[in-house]
Amino acid sequence: MLDRFRRKINYLRISVTDRCNLRCVYCMPDCGVKLLNHSDILTFEEIREIVVIAVGLGIDKVRITGGEPLVRKGIVDLVKMISQIPGIKDLSMTTNGTLLDQFALPLKDAGLNRVNISLDTMNSEHYKKITRVGDIQDVFEGISAALKAGLAPVKINCVIKDSPLESDAQEVEAFCQKHNLKVRFIKEMDLVSGVFSKVIGGDGGNCKSCNRLRLTANGKIKPCLFSNIEYDVRELGIENAIMRAVGIKPASGTENTVNSFSNIGG
Ligand code: 5AD
Ligand code: SF4
Repeated sequence: MLDRFRRKINYLRISVTDRCNLRCVYCMPDCGVKLLNHSDILTFEEIREIVVIAVGLGIDKVRITGGEPLVRKGIVDLVKMISQIPGIKDLSMTTNGTLLDQFALPLKDAGLNRVNISLDTMNSEHYKKITRVGDIQDVFEGISAALKAGLAPVKINCVIKDSPLESDAQEVEAFCQKHNLKVRFIKEMDLVSGVFSKVIGGDGGNCKSCNRLRLTANGKIKPCLFSNIEYDVRELGIENAIMRAVGIKPASGTENTVNSFSNIGG
């Protein structure tokens, strides 16, 4: 699919849940966020059908996100359902890594190609402060399980305040070099005020070459992370929702006052 600006749209990011086992300060308020009703969350069968149709329209790259995708019950089965759809060249997941120790191997066996794991600091106290409830040891175990399972290349998402030269970021970078991990620095964004920038070491935030569509956990196709526009697949039908989103995909992002990172997955 080509959009109005002749960008080739071949990448679908699927949020499979708005829930998370962490409470990162830049993502959620302390009390958590208002969660979707279970009946609003897409079923596995619905997600599969959406991906089948999306692949028919030119999507060949799929990423599973959240919230935290590994807290969705049956996630390994869902990954298997998606990986078996012919035409997907790259199936990846963005995860906070805390549950990967247990999931890395089953995910690999289910057909997941690779993972991006969030890690903003090497310091366990900083990690606790950022995530409010997390134990950094779980992430380290998750990373080594991912490497061992061959979910390669294992990439690390490191959120920074201003610069990759901050000491937390530098320490994460050194860790990544040592362990054969690819690091991407993501400047902290604000959806509501539309503050975003290019991901250092990644493709995100580069509007000119953006190839993405997003699917929220409750079945809305979004043309852009920094946009309020969304099309409901249940209301409009899958193909229609996708085509409308591609047709209206903006030249660049502005703001998003209807979603939060916890339901759109960054
Ligand atoms: N700014 C930048 N990145 C964010 N993420 C979550 N909230 C924000 C934000 N406000 C990132 C996480 C993770 C991915 C899912 O999105 O760190 O790597
Ligand atoms: Fe959970 Fe990721 Fe949000 Fe942190 S940034 S609270 S790990 S969804």
